[in-house]
Amino acid sequence: MENKTYHIVTYGCQMNVHESEKLAGIMRELGYESAEREEDAGVIVFNTCCIRENAEDRAKGNIGALKKLKQKNKDLIIAVGGCMTQQAGAAERLKRTFPFVDIVFGTHNLDNFRELFIRKLQTKKSVIAVEEREGAIAEGTPKFRTSYPNAWVNIMYGCNNFRTYCIVPYVRGRERSRRAEDIVKECEELVAQGYKEITLLGQNVNSYGGDITFAELLRKIAAIEGKFRLRFMTNHPKDFSEEVAYAVRDCDKICRCIHLPVQSGSDRILKLMNRRYTRAAYLEKLEFLRKIVPDCAVTSDIMVGFPSETEEDFLDTCELVEAARFHGAFTFVYSPRRGTKAAAMPDRVPEEVAKERIMRLIELQNGISRKIAENYVGKTAEVLCDGYDADKKMHFGRDEFGKTISFAGDCAAGEFVAVKIENAGGVSLTGKAEKRGG
Ligand code: 5AD
Repeated sequence: MENKTYHIVTYGCQMNVHESEKLAGIMRELGYESAEREEDAGVIVFNTCCIRENAEDRAKGNIGALKKLKQKNKDLIIAVGGCMTQQAGAAERLKRTFPFVDIVFGTHNLDNFRELFIRKLQTKKSVIAVEEREGAIAEGTPKFRTSYPNAWVNIMYGCNNFRTYCIVPYVRGRERSRRAEDIVKECEELVAQGYKEITLLGQNVNSYGGDITFAELLRKIAAIEGKFRLRFMTNHPKDFSEEVAYAVRDCDKICRCIHLPVQSGSDRILKLMNRRYTRAAYLEKLEFLRKIVPDCAVTSDIMVGFPSETEEDFLDTCELVEAARFHGAFTFVYSPRRGTKAAAMPDRVPEEVAKERIMRLIELQNGISRKIAENYVGKTAEVLCDGYDADKKMHFGRDEFGKTISFAGDCAAGEFVAVKIENAGGVSLTGKAEKRGG
């Protein structure tokens, strides 16, 4: 009997997570159900990422491991798509290394996955579809959402920024924005369906180029009736405006939590990265944001080991981290990406030096995060419940500021719960539910 089930493996960012929801939507429209385990699925789709080498290595390792499954089950269909396959020449290299892969598709072909899949079924031949250029925005792609109570909403695609380290512009094309009307309509439907959190997605939401500004878009969505939270990511410091900060201040639904990647605290490195701001300009953005929204949580992305980074440059980053008081930060060791400018830059930082720096940076940030977390103890946070732990004893969720909170109590995913914070010692804050509501 035909096995009409699919299993999707996702690597990388929230953008990819949401794109996997689109792939799942397409598969379900074709009459397929999801299979929890790879071994049980009739179709396995890899949605890959290439932002750093380790994301690619993990995907390749897992694709390679499927050879055995394919030998056992000749009818199994394996598709590989996303950022990794969109790189120049990558689809051919992938097909050479893993000839058993049936469909290879690029980021620009994702919305056409239905056609590619049908072509594979009909011709029984492998399908390679990697469009070099982005097409028009596809509005009608079905979505099978899996992140309730949160719903992801794309507002724009692609990136024009060409940071010297970053592969994104090469694999996601130029910036193009959805029409505000389409975005607002999608958000209205999501709220009506009961979603309690909407997260707007774009590589640089601050350069949203639709018919209204990003701040106006935020205000329009926040005006939708009903109780829900509005988040957005990711922000670029060079484009982050006071107008957006005022929208955060004025609209209760917009979370006071901004992700503002800084990458480095050294002006020399920021310049080599082509970030187009200085350390002082970044700190000024933080200052006006905190003046307008005093309790706003700010999180960041920070990279160490960029070509030619010296101990002094690194110490500049540490100093910036001390000054910025981020609620949290994602830290990365620089990873050279084929075709980017930085990959050709001299003076690579030895791996052990970069590793040692990232450890120091993590320790520094952890200390700051811990101090901020300690301030929560004894206070009551409004938590949107995401679900519960495996043993169903503790629930978990996040507050408006993005803090993860575990708590004892009785509630369901999608409920807003007042939680009294009792402990800030572990990975997340822990507390007890006081009352349910919303
Ligand atoms: N090496 C390491 N980290 C990178 N990032 C982007 N490109 C690279 C790279 N080549 C990090 C940046 C970005 C985050 C999503 O990933 O910090 O903000």
